[in-house]
Amino acid sequence: MISSSDNRFKEGQHVVLTGWGVGETHWGGLSEKACVKADWLVPLPEGISAQQSMMIGTAGLTAMLCVQALQEAGIKPEDGEIVVTGASGGVGSVAITLLAQLGYQAVAVSGRASENGEWLKSLGASRVIDRDELNQPAKPLEKQLWAGAIDTTGSTMLAKVLSQISYGGAVAACGLACGFDLPTTVMPFILRGVRLLGVDSVYAPIEKRQRAWKQIGEVLPESFYRQSCKEIALEDVPAAASDIVDGNVSGRLVVKVQ
Ligand SMILES: NC(=O)c1ccc[n+]([C@@H]2O[C@H](COP(=O)([O-])OP(=O)(O)OC[C@H]3O[C@@H](n4cnc5c(N)ncnc54)[C@H](OP(=O)(O)O)[C@@H]3O)[C@@H](O)[C@H]2O)c1
Repeated sequence: MISSSDNRFKEGQHVVLTGWGVGETHWGGLSEKACVKADWLVPLPEGISAQQSMMIGTAGLTAMLCVQALQEAGIKPEDGEIVVTGASGGVGSVAITLLAQLGYQAVAVSGRASENGEWLKSLGASRVIDRDELNQPAKPLEKQLWAGAIDTTGSTMLAKVLSQISYGGAVAACGLACGFDLPTTVMPFILRGVRLLGVDSVYAPIEKRQRAWKQIGEVLPESFYRQSCKEIALEDVPAAASDIVDGNVSGRLVVKVQ
């Protein structure tokens, strides 16, 4: 923080800004300096540096909000496995790390299971399954496999996951990497009491963000930054963006803007 006209913040304080449309509907997502609304800022908790906050980023915050949604739904480590789709992505890889640190058995679902399996296990995945196992039409109800799920994919994959959630379980859904449709039925909801929990980090209220950043600071291990984050230069951004869309990036890329 260089200066603030809002008395909630002071010079020299470390803050983080994600969401609120910055980089989408507001210019300046990759600028070195920005003048922004104080309402958008979260004071960084102790132990998270400015660089680390961007390694965590929107994806990490969203992953934490998904984990907290499951916790608030009463899903406990002893209830059974938590399945995480889109595991190699930013949200998926942080979610697996956080779940494992909190004592959950996280099962990673990946389209790159052979290429990324060892890395996902090193983050804490108890096992890794191939995306093809879930990326196919679901019956209204299937064998109950998961106590909960964090879904970053939507569409066929989310429908499959819903049909396999155990009685009383919950799914935190935040993404649409597979598609924005949802070809499911009411059966998991009305016969198994399954809950579908929508998660949004972009316009999440400030108290929710503060709670999530605090828990990230407490739970995310130092090893995460080494294992899952790569720094790139500003001029590498267009190529990296294409690589992300083509599914060739794992974990998090941080842009060095200076
Ligand atoms: N609700 C919110 O506030 C919020 C916030 C952040 C992100 N999101 C959304 O959450 C999703 C994940 O974000 P992210 O930052 O983790 O993205 P990402 O880094 O691009 O990761 C997405 C992952 O999904 C998997 N995937 C890619 N194409 C797929 C397909 N056609 N079918 C099934 N899986 C596919 C890949 O993992 P594998 O190769 O391991 O399968 C990929 O690494 C995105 O849809 C994003 O828009 C929502």
